[in-house]
Amino acid sequence: MTDIDWDSLRNAARQVASGAYAPYSDLAVGAAALVDDGRIVTGCNVENASYGLTLCAECGLVSNLHSSGGGRLVAVVVVAGDGKQLAPCGRCRQLLLEHGGPECALDAPDGITTIGAILPGAFDTGELEGRRRHT
Ligand code: THU
Repeated sequence: MTDIDWDSLRNAARQVASGAYAPYSDLAVGAAALVDDGRIVTGCNVENASYGLTLCAECGLVSNLHSSGGGRLVAVVVVAGDGKQLAPCGRCRQLLLEHGGPECALDAPDGITTIGAILPGAFDTGELEGRRRHT
């Protein structure tokens, strides 16, 4: 997978941000990703009166990834309601790492980078293997 249509992904992220449910922060967020089979998946943030239950846009995106057939994330865009790129929060960096790996491309506020670059020294499945109490 070499060609990434960033403009299509940005437009998809902006479109889905318009559906955000964010009455508490008033920060709409939209995420869009290219999957390794060529489809595009999206998600928006969904807040809750119990603030800690808020679902980031990336959570919806990953749910849609799996509910629509699975696969791996190849390239991700996250934007705010102003249409500009937003830095994924720490939890969502870990979430994107799980489903796209460190090589997954990211359209960050400062330019194109990778998930691995914004989550150095990450805890991943490799840390689990052989280190469980009963293995
Ligand atoms: N938010 C996201 O959707 N993704 C992120 O990576 C950062 C934060 C949302 C959560 C909350 O609804 C709002 O932005 C303010 O934190």
